[in-house]
Amino acid sequence: MTQISTQPYKGTRDFYPDDMRVRQWCYERMRQVCERFGYQEYDGPLLEPFELYAAKTGEEIVNQQLYSLIDRGERKLALRPEMTPTMARMVAAKFHELPKPIRWFSNPNCWRYERPQRGRLREFWQLNVDLLGGDPILADAEILSVAVGIVRAFGGQGKVAVLVNNRRLMDHFFSQELGLSAEAAVKVTKALDARAKIGEETFLKWVQEAGASQESVDRIDRFFKASFEETLKAMPCEGATELAALFKVLREAGFSEDEVRYDPTVLRGLDYYTGTVFELYDISPENRRAMFGGGRYDNLLGIFGNYKLSGVGFGMGDVTLRHFLEAHGLMPKFGEWVDVYITLPTRALFPIADRIARELRQADLKVISAIEEGGFGVQLKQASKFGARFAVILGEVELSRGAVMLKDLAKGEQREVLMDDLAGAIKPLV
Ligand code: HAM
Repeated sequence: MTQISTQPYKGTRDFYPDDMRVRQWCYERMRQVCERFGYQEYDGPLLEPFELYAAKTGEEIVNQQLYSLIDRGERKLALRPEMTPTMARMVAAKFHELPKPIRWFSNPNCWRYERPQRGRLREFWQLNVDLLGGDPILADAEILSVAVGIVRAFGGQGKVAVLVNNRRLMDHFFSQELGLSAEAAVKVTKALDARAKIGEETFLKWVQEAGASQESVDRIDRFFKASFEETLKAMPCEGATELAALFKVLREAGFSEDEVRYDPTVLRGLDYYTGTVFELYDISPENRRAMFGGGRYDNLLGIFGNYKLSGVGFGMGDVTLRHFLEAHGLMPKFGEWVDVYITLPTRALFPIADRIARELRQADLKVISAIEEGGFGVQLKQASKFGARFAVILGEVELSRGAVMLKDLAKGEQREVLMDDLAGAIKPLV
């Protein structure tokens, strides 16, 4: 018989308990920030109809990265590569009932058939935060505050930069300034997006194939080098005006240029963005991939019917977050995962050990009760191995006085404590 590999499927991870603690800890932090801003948690299915993504998710994900399948009833489905279409579907389904603005967050696992590399896997968890309705500029600013708030909650202030652009500004530049058709603009955008990866020669080839002249290439270069003030002056279009209004609100809220700034290279691959787009980057050079990406989508709900509600949101992956926390030494040391280990010198004492365990659990302590009898030495070793802070030792002499020995495993000290006082003795110390 051939043996089955113990390795997880390429690009996925096993979360052993130590990894799970990290994942839960991260999620708790993110959840706290979202809730402080008044966002509510939602969830949806991992499988969705294929068309949900074919409509607006973007060519690269749909054609190259989607895990699709046919179910037993011949329906074409996909594993979600992102959460935004599910969120939009859920909002559209209860459009008239949901109080607006809608502030929602979720932490789904998503699947993309990518070539696994640093920061990119095939299964990842992605915090999604979305705000639908309200004044678009104030909503964009709020979403950016949540994004920065999350980084700050991990102690990461000063270690990231949010780069902001606007799709309308880019559309204006491509169509009005360069005279490119929508189709050519998409090709040029793709070339720009991949410029660093493909190198200058291939980049020029791609742009010229898309129909851009050498003069246009020079103008593209000038545009990408210009400061926001220069662009606003040279191209006072709707997108630039929106960006100026957004920066005004952000500066008033105290965000510095180092923290949030204009960057025309932020283009975003997803098709549904229409206005503000942004990405958040770790400033440390070893983590080159975006930690968050998001933007405003004006017409996404329109794929479900006549629903008009503009939204803005972002997704933040767990892989890049972990790299960020490690690179900056922001990951805490996780200590004991149980508070008390109750030893069992003989099986006959199990009812007493079990009663103590129940009482301590009632006092909200995390308790392991030994399920095999054994000598103290062996059991104390076990207690340390399981990461307990305290061991309760059941000795005949102490039990005859209604007491037990309480050993502080971190300090190596022990003392006699009445059984009735045990919870009170341990609680203040954990
Ligand atoms: P996205 O830029 O495709 O946007 O992904 C956002 C973030 O998810 C990335 O910056 C990265 O942290 C993480 N991510 C994406 N792909 C992978 C991967 N293969 N492995 C690990 N992490 C990954 C979206 O998905 C939009 N739906 C976000 C959004 C929400 N826009 C509005 N609301």
